Amino acid sequence: MVTLVVNGQQTSVDVDPSTPLLWALREQLKLNGTKFGCGIAQCGACTVHLNGVPVRSCSTPLAAAEGAEVTTIEGVAAPDGTLHAVQQAWIDAQVPQCGYCQSGQLMSAVALLKDNPDPTDADIDAAMRGNICRCGAYGRIRAAIKAAAKA
Ligand code: FES
Ligand code: FES
Repeated sequence: MVTLVVNGQQTSVDVDPSTPLLWALREQLKLNGTKFGCGIAQCGACTVHLNGVPVRSCSTPLAAAEGAEVTTIEGVAAPDGTLHAVQQAWIDAQVPQCGYCQSGQLMSAVALLKDNPDPTDADIDAAMRGNICRCGAYGRIRAAIKAAAKA
């Protein structure tokens, strides 16, 4: 049994603590916005925040989240439903194509802007390097991050 806080809610997950956090989120907690891509920490589709830091949940054991705060794409908007500035910018810029990589992209972007509210192109490239988009939406991702920074 592992106890953690997910999107502000204290919760317990009764699976082997070595289970990847991704599968605990998707299978036990039914938070399916976080995606499985490569499973080896190479694509970023599974990115969530662990105590505010972006991590690859496919390669993070559930045990690492014991007593920690996890935020997934489902927990980015305010409790009243108001979208995060990054979410709004994503919609305004119509960033997604197929959409599969997008929750991971967005989680990395939210973390970037929390640490660096006015990132340069180089800062964005460095922060987003580990998030692969097979549809090549990189230009719109960068534009949306800049728009969110302005907002
Ligand atoms: S699924 Fe986790 S990094 Fe690709
Ligand atoms: S929008 Fe299709 S993989 Fe990124």
